[in-house]
Amino acid sequence: MAKDPVHVLVTGAAGQIGYALVPMIARGVMLGADQPVILHMLDIPLAAEALNGVKMELISNNQNILLRPGVVATTDVVEACLGVNIAVMVGGFPRKEGMERKDVMSKNVSIYKSQASALESHAAANCKVLVVANPANTNALILKEFAPSIPEKNISCLTRLDHNRALGQVSERLSVQVSDVKNVIIWGNHSSTQYPDVTHATVKTSVGKKAVKELVADDAWLNGEFISTVQQRGAAIIKARKFSSALSAASSACDHIRDWVVGTPEGTWVSMGVYSDGSYDVPAGLIYSFPVTCKNGEWSIVQGLSIDEFSRSKLDKTAEELSEEKALAYSCLV
Ligand code: NAD
Ligand code: LMR
Repeated sequence: MAKDPVHVLVTGAAGQIGYALVPMIARGVMLGADQPVILHMLDIPLAAEALNGVKMELISNNQNILLRPGVVATTDVVEACLGVNIAVMVGGFPRKEGMERKDVMSKNVSIYKSQASALESHAAANCKVLVVANPANTNALILKEFAPSIPEKNISCLTRLDHNRALGQVSERLSVQVSDVKNVIIWGNHSSTQYPDVTHATVKTSVGKKAVKELVADDAWLNGEFISTVQQRGAAIIKARKFSSALSAASSACDHIRDWVVGTPEGTWVSMGVYSDGSYDVPAGLIYSFPVTCKNGEWSIVQGLSIDEFSRSKLDKTAEELSEEKALAYSCLV
């Protein structure tokens, strides 16, 4: 029997990430090739013509078997949010070369406050929300605060891109398949204070699972260049492309939602920005990236991992930045 369609909202659908993301969703990369999807694409009136162009392209693409019965392309936030089961919030003002993420804060938090209300009033009851637009953790927090009836477990932000970047760095360094590297962690903010942590990461080898730390055997690299490369990757891409990452961001958004909905493989965790419950002494009340496993459509923070002194200071530093961002966001909304 055919599955009921899932309604997936993509805001900022006429933008760069949107343009990469909607065909991935349409081809089943996010929810599987047997899951019909109705795409709801939202953008602002200034981008209405471009949005319509994206819709035309989707309809012309004969690989879009998933798109029946439809694509909604609109600049009306209420129409866009109506009955959505999954909301991927990409719309916003992107960081340009030379801008700090905080510079885009005031432009974006007011968007997230008003879109929170639209989702709260019009989305399906158990809608899962992924915020991609920067500052992603703080936009997600504002969305959570202004949509109090959406369960806090349903609101998340994207740090899977950073997670995938960390896997990529280890795979390059060790010349192994990226799919054989598991259980890196991104702690904290999707920003340059994030802490990419390989303390518990492993690589599948012909003689079993080995610790990344043992195989790399170079603490100077792991505690230095590895961390800074992952932290600065977004800025490096902006410098190179003059635009922020789009293809990898779209692909990571699909990874995030797929694992959340379908579940993470046994023994594997991923990184998601989620509402802190105080685990690992991270202040409650922040959206903070943790290692999580997912089962039956719910994430759980992986508990009991050892945190050494080096890691502790990094976890605290990125939490401090998030607390500052939260205060700044509220000051922008006043
Ligand atoms: P973009 O400028 O190409 O696209 C953004 C789109 O959002 C535009 O089409 C714009 O018209 C639309 N938009 C603006 N305000 C809107 C609103 N109120 N409602 C709906 N749509 C609106 O930017 P992009 O490259 O697609 O990046 C989008 C966001 O994602 C940026 O904030 C960027 O910094 C962020 N980003 C996050 C990650 C991550 O890993 N979390 C990675 C890359 C980029
Ligand atoms: C990225 O990590 O690629 C982006 O978040 C960079 C940015 O600031 O847009």
